[in-house]
Order: sequence, then C-alpha cells, then structure tokens
Amino acid sequence: MCSIYFLLLAILLPCCFEILSLSCSTVMKDTLRYLAGIAGPSGYGSKTTAQQVTDNSSSPLHRLTAIITGATSGIGAETARVLAKRGVRVVIPARDIKKAAELKEGIENENPNVEIMLFEIDLSSLASVKRFCTQFLALGLPLNILINNAGIFSQNLEFSEDKIEMTFATNYLGTCTLLFFHYHNLE
Ligand SMILES: NC(=O)c1ccc[n+]([C@@H]2O[C@H](COP(=O)([O-])OP(=O)(O)OC[C@H]3O[C@@H](n4cnc5c(N)ncnc54)[C@H](OP(=O)(O)O)[C@@H]3O)[C@@H](O)[C@H]2O)c1
Repeated sequence: MCSIYFLLLAILLPCCFEILSLSCSTVMKDTLRYLAGIAGPSGYGSKTTAQQVTDNSSSPLHRLTAIITGATSGIGAETARVLAKRGVRVVIPARDIKKAAELKEGIENENPNVEIMLFEIDLSSLASVKRFCTQFLALGLPLNILINNAGIFSQNLEFSEDKIEMTFATNYLGTCTLLFFHYHNLE
C-alpha cells in the first residue's frame, strides 16, 4: 500500500513542479514585458500614453460623457486631461473640490473649449456616493464611459463613517455602488 503512495507521489510531484515553473515563467515574462513597455494583445503597453491610445481611437470621442473618479492626481488627472482635450464631457467627482477646481483650471488653460463638471464625492461613504449618483442622474446626461480609477491603500487600520475598513470601503464598496448605480445607464 505504502509503495503505491510513493509511486503516485513520484508521478505527481514532477507534474506539480512542471506546472509551477510554467506559471512562474509566465508571470516573469509578463513582468518583463510590463517593465520594458512591450505592447500586449491590445496593442498597448505600460509605456503607452493616454494621448497615444486616443490618437488611435477609431470611434469619435466628442459628445461622449465620462465619469472619472480619482481625477485630482496621477493617472486619473492625465486621463481627464486627455479625454477632455478629445472632446469628451468629463465629470469629475472628487472629495477635494479645491484640488479638482485647480485641475479643471489647468486643463481649461490648455484647451478653452473643454467641458468639465465637478461634484463632491467621498467614495468611502455610501451616503456620499448615493448623493453624487442622484445629482448626476438629475442632469439627464448619457453616461458612455465610467472610469473607476480612485483608490487608496490605507497603511493603518482606519474605519469609514459606515464603520467599514477604509481601503475596502473606498476601493470596493464605494466604487461598486457607483458602478451598480450607473450600470443600467451606461450606453
Ligand atoms: N500608480 C501606480 O503605479 C498604480 C499601481 C497599481 C494600482 N494603481 C491604482 O491606480 C489608481 C490610480 O493610481 P494613481 O497613482 O494615479 O493614484 P493617486 O495619485 O494616489 O490618486 C488616487 C486618487 O483617488 C482619489 N481618492 C482616494 N480616496 C478617495 C475617496 N475616498 N473618495 C474619492 N476619491 C478618492 C484621490 O483623491 P484625493 O486627491 O482627494 O486624495 C486621488 O484623486 C489607484 O486606484 C491606484 O490604487 C496605481
């Protein structure tokens, strides 16, 4: 009986190592491709800019409406800048309206014809997310693009006003509520 187990182990172990090394090498290859900026199946890589992606866009972007969360800095700010420049009506829900207004002003200085709308939102608060959703729906605008970009990584154990762990509340609950609210309106 014992020898059957040893035999099975002898057959299975090399298979496990083979599968493990295959998946490791895939992960390593993907990481190297990412670091080198090599384009993936989409034709874009980590070094492709938002400007380049929209340069190649086959469909016209003007007259579309986009909601972009987390547009007050980083990737979201650049996405907002490029989409607004391409003629997309950009709706920015932000928890720091002053910061959002500065971003809006910067984009408008570059392109005076852009259309940017600012709203308050704190994604960690379900009440705030619902408030923003109601305000947006009241505008009667279509929603063509929803970019759920905002996110945090809270180093400390913090809780939202709904008494939910802060990173989870912001990145998942708030963001999903926003998506569910607008899911049926996405065109
Ligand atoms: N950069 C990277 O290498 C990288 C890698 C992996 C994943 N990501 C993810 O990609 C996204 C963008 O990255 P990034 O580097 O551009 O991030 P970032 O510069 O840190 O910007 C995060 C944005 O999210 C907003 N935000 C945070 N908590 C919020 C809340 N409770 N309610 C509303 N807005 C909130 C911030 O607003 P405030 O201005 O008010 O703080 C800011 O505009 C993030 O979700 C990040 O986790 C980034």
